[in-house]
Amino acid sequence: MQQIRFDGKRALVTGGASGIGETTAKLLADLGARVVLADINADGLKAAMQRTGAVGVTSGDVANEQDAEHMVDDAARILGGLDLLFNSAGIGDDLVPVHQQPVDRWQRVLDVNLKGTYLMCRNAGRIMVPQKRGAIVNVASIVGLGAFPGRSAYGTAKAGIMHLTATLGCEWGADGVRVNAIAPAYTKTPMVRDLLDRKIFDPTKIERRTPLGRMGLPEEMAKATAFLLSDWASYITGVTLPVDGGWSAFGGAGDVARNFEPQGK
Ligand SMILES: NC(=O)c1ccc[n+]([C@@H]2O[C@H](COP(=O)([O-])OP(=O)(O)OC[C@H]3O[C@@H](n4cnc5c(N)ncnc54)[C@H](O)[C@@H]3O)[C@@H](O)[C@H]2O)c1
Repeated sequence: MQQIRFDGKRALVTGGASGIGETTAKLLADLGARVVLADINADGLKAAMQRTGAVGVTSGDVANEQDAEHMVDDAARILGGLDLLFNSAGIGDDLVPVHQQPVDRWQRVLDVNLKGTYLMCRNAGRIMVPQKRGAIVNVASIVGLGAFPGRSAYGTAKAGIMHLTATLGCEWGADGVRVNAIAPAYTKTPMVRDLLDRKIFDPTKIERRTPLGRMGLPEEMAKATAFLLSDWASYITGVTLPVDGGWSAFGGAGDVARNFEPQGK
């Protein structure tokens, strides 16, 4: 059986200066791809390029139409074309209920996560559809699979990404372009590690609620993404793969996933 390899493949990774994007960029590069990193954090890109083995960087805001165009154009120019896109750029929200949330903040979360993913897919599709070859992976979230109080903007955006992914998978399937998504649960990226170090939230609650009993690692998101981008997933399109330790599968009463006691006693 062939190993997953990306030799000769040209990949663009948004959100490539940090976290899941950076880790996935490194894995793709380690597996033979030539990778360009895109991010709004221009300073962070330089350091991430060293860490990942990427061959180039481009900076901009994925939510801005002109920036999204120039980032795809830059990547295609640096790489001499484009075969793979991983859309990891994203921001969180403020954990406020809807009746207390300013609309401009709601809109920004929608714009970066959903509109940004749409614009990057659209621009990559303008290259991939005519060449009749390409694969894209978007990043949804468990917050898009089920409702999290206080996270209406983020959850709406991530649910939208799942629907966009399904639509694009259907629109572009006959043109040889596959579009899928991953839906991570809580993942120990630098941002989440910092929150844990500062004891902003209690990891044991998440661990109890997760059938596999722990939070995810960026490397686990990267491996699932590499699979979906690879020819091993050649008959998979339009799907969102939860990479969540069983979080979305759990539907039991109470908050402990491995509780075999009868409920309601
Ligand atoms: N870490 C988690 O627990 C978790 C869980 C579910 C989903 N996700 C999703 O995974 C993706 C990556 O998250 P992460 O944890 O690696 O976060 P991160 O903050 O480490 O990385 C996100 C990157 O996106 C960049 N970015 C932000 N806004 C941008 C914009 N407008 N234009 C271009 N780049 C922008 C940031 O500069 C950063 O480098 C996000 O879409 C996030 O919503 C993360």
